Amino acid sequence: MEGGQRLRGEVRISGAKNAALPILCSSILTAGECTFHNVPVLNDIRTMGKLLAQLGCTVEGERTVKISAAKLTSLEAPYEMVKTMRASVLVLGPLVARHGKARVSLPGGCAIGARPIDQHLKGLEAMGAKIALNHGYVEAKAKRLTGARIVCDIPTVTGTENLMMAAALARGRSVIENAAREPEVEELARVLNKMGAKIHGAGTPVIDVDGVDELHAIEHAIIPDRIEAGTFMVAAAITRGDVLVRDCLPEHLDAVIAKLRAAGAEVTAEKGGLRVRAKGDLTAVDITTQPYPGFPTDMQAQFMVLAAVAAGQSVITETIFENRYMHVQELARMGAEIHVDGRTSIIRGKAKLSGTTVMATDLRASASLVLAGLVATGKTEVLRVYHLDRGYEKIEKKLRPLGANIKRVRVKGREQ
Ligand code: EPZ
Repeated sequence: MEGGQRLRGEVRISGAKNAALPILCSSILTAGECTFHNVPVLNDIRTMGKLLAQLGCTVEGERTVKISAAKLTSLEAPYEMVKTMRASVLVLGPLVARHGKARVSLPGGCAIGARPIDQHLKGLEAMGAKIALNHGYVEAKAKRLTGARIVCDIPTVTGTENLMMAAALARGRSVIENAAREPEVEELARVLNKMGAKIHGAGTPVIDVDGVDELHAIEHAIIPDRIEAGTFMVAAAITRGDVLVRDCLPEHLDAVIAKLRAAGAEVTAEKGGLRVRAKGDLTAVDITTQPYPGFPTDMQAQFMVLAAVAAGQSVITETIFENRYMHVQELARMGAEIHVDGRTSIIRGKAKLSGTTVMATDLRASASLVLAGLVATGKTEVLRVYHLDRGYEKIEKKLRPLGANIKRVRVKGREQ
């Protein structure tokens, strides 16, 4: 890519990866065939499709996906799959709830942090599951789960989703306290209720679930991806562009919109989406990542690029993951001035970024490198874009019509 263009025009946002992943798993809870529309076409979704097929589900289609878990042939999520995508752990709750048993590889650590699943297991145990850890696998058994009061030590997104799916088929009432409030959690509850579940309070810290004996198949269109939308909004602001981000839900982006406005960008709701415009220099903003509705950790790296080119000094504090600054050294190679001290980073703004070869390390870090390439002088080459493809649908094909000079290059013998 070559930087320096102002982005102009419209971009359509795809379905939400972090809503689609648990929703695809929810199909395990019923014997009927579910149909999901607006499913993003991403590597992580393909991986989840392969995992469900490996369990014995029939999985058809892309964007519109039909799944039937009528006859499962396996109750195991193998290490080979779980190691490529931690969200594979989301089959645990549904398998135990409907089939009374599951064997799921422990995910292990990842680039951004240790990311244990103790809260998932604690909640299942509270519902009566017998949990054993054997040879790197979680083995969970329960003839039928029983409703329980579960107080999460930390508002975990996939933990809340796993427990909500498990409680949906448990006997009696469950109460999940200190639950995650992310829009993806609320969307999963919407889907489960459509399947016949009785869930109240999703989107708040306390979720009540009255278990039912059976759930039925449904058809559902998945919400748009607020993190993809946020990424394009930052792209518009830092390139002093004028972009209409279509099909996003502004109510899911309050914290992001507030910080963009504080930085001096104009953000207006329009029919069909959000328009982001920026004329002059942006100004520094301080950010502390928080569970929803606070500022999303999945937007931290993207805002670090904004801070690097904005006037003034910004302080960014990452409170969710202990190791989510892998992009800092790569941005520093482009000329950004960032000082990291533990979970806090201090960014001296107004850096003149210059293009070079940089290495992606995780999904959102790779998005920040593409954003930096949009404003850097000269050529930027982002390696290991497979990280990007996990969560962004053909980002170069969405950026080019906005005026970006970007293309995907396959180079033999070079890391893609
Ligand atoms: C979800 O991960 C998202 N992934 C992540 O998005 C996102 O960064 C994260 O939530 C936070 O918003 C999906 O939805 C598939 P957590 P999740 O459990 O559920 C600790 C992206 O870029 N914790 O809410 O794994 C954990 O270590 C990805 O799209 C425990 O200690 O995150 C972390 O510090 C990256 N014990 C904190 O809680 C547990 O049992 C929040 O993690 C569970 C979590």
